[in-house]
Amino acid sequence: MLIHHVPVVAALLAATGVAALPKKTQQSMGKHRVTSIELGPRPYYLVDNMEEGWLKDRLDSCAETAMRPTKFSISHRGGACLQFPEETVESIMAGTRMGAGIQECDVAFTKDRQFVCRHDQCDLHTTTNIVATELGAKCTKPFAPAANGTAASAKCCTSDLTLAEFKTLCGKMDGFNASATTPEAFLHGTPGWRTDLYATCGTVLAHKEFIALVDGLGLDFTPELKAPAVPMPFEGGDYTFEAYAQQLVDEYRGAGIDFARVYPQSFQFAAVQYWLRREPEFARQAVLLDESGDKGGLEAAVANLTLYKDAGVNIVAPPLPYLVALDGKTGEIVPSSYAREAKRLGLKIITWSLERSGPIAAIHKAGQKGSPDYYYSTFFNATTRDGDIYKLVDVLARQVGVMGIFSDWSATVTYYANCMGFLS
Ligand SMILES: *[C@@H]1O[C@H](CO)[C@@H](O)[C@H](O)[C@H]1NC(C)=O
Ligand SMILES: *[C@@H]1O[C@H](CO)[C@@H](O)[C@H](O)[C@H]1NC(C)=O
Ligand SMILES: *[C@@H]1O[C@H](CO)[C@@H](O)[C@H](O)[C@H]1NC(C)=O
Ligand SMILES: *[C@@H]1O[C@H](CO)[C@@H](O)[C@H](O)[C@H]1NC(C)=O
Repeated sequence: MLIHHVPVVAALLAATGVAALPKKTQQSMGKHRVTSIELGPRPYYLVDNMEEGWLKDRLDSCAETAMRPTKFSISHRGGACLQFPEETVESIMAGTRMGAGIQECDVAFTKDRQFVCRHDQCDLHTTTNIVATELGAKCTKPFAPAANGTAASAKCCTSDLTLAEFKTLCGKMDGFNASATTPEAFLHGTPGWRTDLYATCGTVLAHKEFIALVDGLGLDFTPELKAPAVPMPFEGGDYTFEAYAQQLVDEYRGAGIDFARVYPQSFQFAAVQYWLRREPEFARQAVLLDESGDKGGLEAAVANLTLYKDAGVNIVAPPLPYLVALDGKTGEIVPSSYAREAKRLGLKIITWSLERSGPIAAIHKAGQKGSPDYYYSTFFNATTRDGDIYKLVDVLARQVGVMGIFSDWSATVTYYANCMGFLS
């Protein structure tokens, strides 16, 4: 089902004469279901790294248990972006192999209004090789080299390209080289705790291809409708925000997917409201992504929960730090006021994103100098080593009662879920 515009790819590559990344080869992944779940060494490394106690003993006791996929383990941008280019077939396949039961595609639109998987409508310059191809000339802001103390820059949006053009790009690890004086040098910038080992030419995909791939794998879907990065209606035509929100519904309906397998997400309350009003069946499992506390503070976010509940929202998805706090007396990680209020209102909770920021020990060291990482800020002093990830997951699972956790490395949550019985 994965359509490749091979002649187009070949023609473009020949024309550009730039080969920053190898050209695409025919895709052979995703042709069969994944039945053998393999978690690799990371969960075992994390358990070994935990402090002594009942949780470590319990998790250690599952070391030789056969693992199953679970919806508690939600892929973030494919579920393997610690090592694989995000939002690519390769990341999805690796996340699937690591037991993610729900697969994510962040949805952005192209110039010809086709949906593709990209975390941001305008991140092609950091997540693909576009600046080093002929298509770089079509970018909203083409590559500009570093000069006279000004950082190198570019801004390339999915809406700058047609779907056929987008499909010729290679997915790479997110990052860029601010000192680059050439487009090729701009492609570098992968953090040291990620790797370029599998970033040879990630297979980018249309949302329709994502649906076909994930359907074939027998998994559930969590597409995120991204905020448009251009004024809507797009190019002054009839492509309104509502038409954009409707298109997501139409792509699942058109593919004959049971809406019970779809968890559509958006930070845009207007999108969720649109689905609630026009497509109530699709909206039943809509996930309202909530970062309102970033601006207004956690109290404001807590207050907003009633509003969401009254509007008919069933699932909210705040970032990890909204859900936990440190107990003043014991210093233990405990559910936050946000978590307690969501529970009181009967809202279900999904959270993001585990393993987004690299080794905890390194974050901790840097944080001592006054800049704790976003995802670890509120429980900073309660997490000092990588094994503490499981301490956090355990609070989220058993005390906060989340229905799932997004992770950049699905194996970590899959292992916990299998061991502790969070299987669905
Ligand atoms: C950098 O500064 C030099 C000297 O002022 C100038 O000639 C050159 O055009 C500048 N380069 C860019 C890219 O702005
Ligand atoms: C970043 O670009 C500069 C200037 O082109 C180059 O010297 C440097 O090696 C590049 N860094 C990486 C990691 O490629
Ligand atoms: C939620 O809270 C923020 C303040 O943080 C506010 O700006 C926003 O309008 C509220 N409502 C919604 C629907 O997000
Ligand atoms: C961690 O604890 C130290 C010592 O109590 C305190 O000074 C620091 O502010 C705490 N850091 C964070 C990020 O909470």
